Amino acid sequence: MSEIPYSQQTMNNKMKKFRSKNYKLKPNDKIYTPKAVAELMIKMCTIKPTDKVLDPSLGGGVFYDNLPPCTKEFCEIEKGIDFFDASGEYSLIIGNPPYSLWNAWLNKTMELTNKLCFLWGIMNFTHHRMNRILEQGYVLTHYHLLKVSYWFSHHVIVIFEKCDPATLCKITVSGKEFKCECGKRCGRGAGGKNYNICGNLQKI
Ligand SMILES: C[S@@+](CC[C@H](N)C(=O)[O-])C[C@H]1O[C@@H](n2cnc3c(N)ncnc32)[C@H](O)[C@@H]1O
Repeated sequence: MSEIPYSQQTMNNKMKKFRSKNYKLKPNDKIYTPKAVAELMIKMCTIKPTDKVLDPSLGGGVFYDNLPPCTKEFCEIEKGIDFFDASGEYSLIIGNPPYSLWNAWLNKTMELTNKLCFLWGIMNFTHHRMNRILEQGYVLTHYHLLKVSYWFSHHVIVIFEKCDPATLCKITVSGKEFKCECGKRCGRGAGGKNYNICGNLQKI
């Protein structure tokens, strides 16, 4: 596990304090991952039965419920299990973090694991954040570009792990957009519609 420099620990504590007293989840913090994307991420991680895996932000359980046999745990603030209180060591932390907490989330993740696989909005995958992860001794081993049709911007699945720095990074891309499970342009997420429910099932 990496040692988090004091300046980052301080920031982590500040973020946590700020969040626990005043913090309210933003609407974009609760956008759930399509099952096909979560399954792709899980496949990319080649999880072994001996692995101990943490889903740090359960939401509807799309990662946790689809993990192959392994030791698995989850956090979810709405169930009273705060990721920032997590401790121990994990072989892998995998998920889709609440976007307004990216910096603190990364710091906490790097305290707990040598391997992280997150789904990033392409504009959230900044050089500052990537440098912060690389500075802690992680290597970027897989970068996968994709588009969910009803989400703003492209997204990337990125795996970082502590391994031989000479390890080549796989760069891959999804051939087709990920659509709503209804398979149609149902308006999900558009014009005030909820991102987490098929547009055909909503009236506004
Ligand atoms: C972007 S959603 C992703 C949910 C699910 N993992 C998925 O991909 O469908 C982020 C989730 O993180 C949860 N969350 C926010 N802050 C958290 C915290 N401090 N600890 C644990 N979960 C948190 C939110 O309630 C929300 O369910």
